[in-house]
Amino acid sequence: MLTDHIEGELLDRCRRLRAISNYAVGVDNIDLDAATRRGIPVGHTPDVLTNAVADLTFALLLAAARRLPGAISSVYDGDWLTWEPGLHLGAEVHGALLGIVGMGRIGHAVARRAEGFEMTVIYSGAGGGQALDAVLTESDFVSLHCPLTPATHHLIDTAALSRMRPTAILINTARGPIVDQVALRAALVDGTIGGAALDVTDPEPLPHDDPLLSAPNLIVAPHIGSATRAARERMTELAVENLLAGLDGRPMLHQANVVDRAAP
Ligand code: DGY
Repeated sequence: MLTDHIEGELLDRCRRLRAISNYAVGVDNIDLDAATRRGIPVGHTPDVLTNAVADLTFALLLAAARRLPGAISSVYDGDWLTWEPGLHLGAEVHGALLGIVGMGRIGHAVARRAEGFEMTVIYSGAGGGQALDAVLTESDFVSLHCPLTPATHHLIDTAALSRMRPTAILINTARGPIVDQVALRAALVDGTIGGAALDVTDPEPLPHDDPLLSAPNLIVAPHIGSATRAARERMTELAVENLLAGLDGRPMLHQANVVDRAAP
């Protein structure tokens, strides 16, 4: 599971280990180099959850833009007294500018959904696009879809947040540590940005008294990007296929590292 941290020290104690199959597309919980040095293939589950994560990204984007959690709570809390022209005003999604950070499978799937809302899409990523600064400065919505690596750890820090528009909304369905949460809380409190919607945090779950949770204009979901019945079934099948292939000494359907089977 993505909640299991697999490091070299653990691998050294698993003398008969022949294969690792991660039930996730992200492999930041596994020290890939350590596994590779020991000749252990690492499987993961890309593709099968792409649309589920892209759908949730859009759900969060829309919920944050239209301030849905607060508006719905007002009904349940008995606070909604009458229709008013200025009540629960949010941001227009149609025609807005969406900045995607990390244009891989999920980034592309989010961009396809944005077409339906006639949004303009710009992106930055390892494979091209614009500079991150330009994406942050111009976008109405910034959505993170890069993997967590040493290079992307706290990619969205105080400096990055200060480049965003005061009305901009940050969406993170990738990995929590890509965002510096202390900086994010400060940016939400002082109005540097307009809002944030997170499916991932650091740690997960956040302690219920974590200061981030009291920040204004924030939505936090419990890491449910791939949580559709269909995606989880396909992830299960793929994780099992990967594991069986690894145990048989065959290439896995989706392998995150390249191993020399003769490695010690
Ligand atoms: C993944 O597979 O990496 C996702 O975060 C799981 O929802």
